[in-house]
Amino acid sequence: IKKIGILTGGGDAPGINAVIRAAVKVAVNHYGIRVIGIEQGFGGLIEDRTRKLTTKEVMGILPRGGTILGTTNRDNPFHYPIRLESGEVEFRDVSIRVPETLAKHAIEALIVIGGDGSLKIASQLWEKYAVPVVGVPKTIDNDLSATDQTFGFDTALKTATEAIDKLHTTAESHYRIMVLEVMGRYAGWIALQAGLAGGADVILIPEIPFDIYKVCDKIKERSAAGKQFSIVVVAEGARAIGGEMVVKKVVEDSFEKIRLGGIGNVVGEQIEEITGIETRVTVLGHLQRGGSPTPFDRILGSRFGAAAVNLVMEGRFGEMVCLRTPHIASVPLVEAVGEMRRVPLGSDMVRMARQIGVSFGN
Ligand code: F6P
Repeated sequence: IKKIGILTGGGDAPGINAVIRAAVKVAVNHYGIRVIGIEQGFGGLIEDRTRKLTTKEVMGILPRGGTILGTTNRDNPFHYPIRLESGEVEFRDVSIRVPETLAKHAIEALIVIGGDGSLKIASQLWEKYAVPVVGVPKTIDNDLSATDQTFGFDTALKTATEAIDKLHTTAESHYRIMVLEVMGRYAGWIALQAGLAGGADVILIPEIPFDIYKVCDKIKERSAAGKQFSIVVVAEGARAIGGEMVVKKVVEDSFEKIRLGGIGNVVGEQIEEITGIETRVTVLGHLQRGGSPTPFDRILGSRFGAAAVNLVMEGRFGEMVCLRTPHIASVPLVEAVGEMRRVPLGSDMVRMARQIGVSFGN
């Protein structure tokens, strides 16, 4: 192998640049091969947007968030948006262009840094065209089952914990309830761990459907004990027992509000209504995806980047690097995608949380 390509797909996560930097350094300095960066995700392979990645290109990017290659979660080669002359958009399977572009640039292997969606595409490319791919798992949500942890999660966790620390001081001063909505569509890792690290009183996660009245009981119990503020952390994917509606009786248009404003706003509004205590809501949003990666994410990203190039050089395509603490290992891509890693309800973390008095609202 003389030349490899690197691509980043899906939402960004702090630490991607550490992966790219390590991969380029290992490829160029250790193996003496060349690296081509594919720009803006899989769309870069379809539209042929590439650039050489030299060691000079990756200088100084280790502490930088985001991805120097650009990314998008729209451009799936198997379902690619084509703008017609009429202005309408039609989706077509243009995946054949992937092996074509790779051949044009004499790229002999492709490293795909992506979340569930991008890794699924990588797996399909391997199965359909035998495109020699190696995957690197990435998501701040930490919800990929095949790896103990993804890079980006630790940084997001730090951001969310710092937000809770800041909300604490203002909550205490104003005798308020502070609701913080954090990311996590399918899994509550950020909410659970930031909630624990920040000393939240209530943590609502997708894995444990909640009852808003139980949430309010916890808050009232605190008030009765003289604690005149409370911190509630809500994962964006958290849902009430029995479905999407939080409390039908209290807010009729809850479902629409969840869709428009996020679950945090609905929970905050209903807590205020039920408890009568002044409540404020903060939606942390993409602050969790930005900024400089923590040392842990820089190191995990670097380990993944180096391991991905090693896999390529060993000809182990169709595999994904992963963390099997304390080692870096690999798994077949087909096994790695699709299976989400949710918070296990019997985990010691959930148990400990309950034992120290955290309510999950159930
Ligand atoms: O999967 C990562 C993630 O940040 C989720 O936590 C969140 O739901 C989603 O991406 C947001 O995606 P977008 O940036 O496309 O709005």
